Amino acid sequence: MTTTAHLPPMTAPSMTPTPDTTTARVGRGIGGHHSAQAKTTTWLTPPHILAALGDFDVDPCAAPGWPTATTQYVLPVDGLAQPWAGRVWLNPPYGAQTWTWLDRLAAHGDGVALIFARTETAGFVEQVWSKAHGIYFLHGRLHFHHSDGTRAVANAGAPSCLVAYGQANADVLASCDLPGTWVALR
Ligand SMILES: C[S@@+](CC[C@H](N)C(=O)[O-])C[C@H]1O[C@@H](n2cnc3c(N)ncnc32)[C@H](O)[C@@H]1O
Repeated sequence: MTTTAHLPPMTAPSMTPTPDTTTARVGRGIGGHHSAQAKTTTWLTPPHILAALGDFDVDPCAAPGWPTATTQYVLPVDGLAQPWAGRVWLNPPYGAQTWTWLDRLAAHGDGVALIFARTETAGFVEQVWSKAHGIYFLHGRLHFHHSDGTRAVANAGAPSCLVAYGQANADVLASCDLPGTWVALR
């Protein structure tokens, strides 16, 4: 296992969101999904994360108006039931279902997932430690975006990481300029 740390400044967002009116905004960070007050599980990827990683072919669980990949599957289309071709971007739905999506990505073998760095959980052990090519542990905490495109005032309440499946994605993460530390697994 090797690790590499990077500590550059954050890059500016490069994408312009448009509103998603299918889910309600709440005045909390992503950690709010643990609360009874939470009304949405749609937390959008900060644009600077995507900008640092290059182009993706497919986002199987995309949000309307939030550009992440050339092909986006948006509910009511079930992205798990669709074909995944090429490089996949995956910021999956939260909860136990996260691991179903990671399992599919691991089998696909070409993509990057953004998930919480809950490294001790059974799902993380099974789908990340056991299958991924490497993990980029992001320093600090992300501010995800609400479904209307606005940046959450509160941070995510927990650390996040980027998980590489496939050597090409491992190479991208290992050399990306996001503030974080790379851990190669294969
Ligand atoms: C955490 S958000 C991430 C959105 C987007 N992928 C991104 O990176 O910003 C998870 C998204 O998954 C969508 N979703 C949940 N189940 C889905 C399914 N079966 N098929 C497609 N999208 C789904 C939700 O509507 C939500 O927009």
